Amino acid sequence: ARPVKLAPSILSCDFAHLADELGAIAGADWAHVDVMDGMFVPNISFGLPILAAARRASNLPLDVHLMIERPERYLKDFAAAGADSMTVHVESTPHVHRAVQQIRELGKRAGVTLNPGTPLEAVRPLLGDVDLVLVMSVNPGFGGQKFIPASLERIRTLRRWLDEMGSDAELQVDGGVSSTNARAVVSAGATVLVAGSAVFGPGGAKAGLERLREALK
Ligand code: DX5
Ligand code: ZN
Repeated sequence: ARPVKLAPSILSCDFAHLADELGAIAGADWAHVDVMDGMFVPNISFGLPILAAARRASNLPLDVHLMIERPERYLKDFAAAGADSMTVHVESTPHVHRAVQQIRELGKRAGVTLNPGTPLEAVRPLLGDVDLVLVMSVNPGFGGQKFIPASLERIRTLRRWLDEMGSDAELQVDGGVSSTNARAVVSAGATVLVAGSAVFGPGGAKAGLERLREALK
């Protein structure tokens, strides 16, 4: 089996104690950083200064999920603020391929993603040029939503396409992932699990991360 990476989403953490929260997930593989602009999604989260603060407080690779209109305007800034990977939505720009090229030119891992209502074909032309494909298993904008069951079939299809191409791109899943469905998501072919509310819940993030790891054993 392929190694599975865990990427807690700091969207659900206590921002008044960001450094402590990042410390609690030091045993994770990546920290997932959700940037929302109130335009592409109906919520505003945070932007460059918080990413820079996370960079100072953690050694984890910072995996930045850009839920913003025309992300190409800010790729350079997010790279400078400490992003190790940047994932853009196919719905957020008419030039998603150019955005992916720009991420790689900045020396960062390039990811592409799509909303649950967008046909998978929208990412197919990009698969040879990305390091990561993200399947959204909720409608982006908020933490704590329920996993959309039809996502499993979408993960399987992308798994098949990547395997057929011989691609070793990561297949990431984001939204409603918890210890109750983590195994099924990995069985469908995911290699990176994002989890916000399931990690930063009652009992603390260290225990939350441990629950997720246990569920995958
Ligand atoms: C949703 C974000 C997710 C979110 C996941 O728009 O992209 O990364 O933090 O939160 P949970 O795991 O609570 O669904
Ligand atoms: Zn996300």
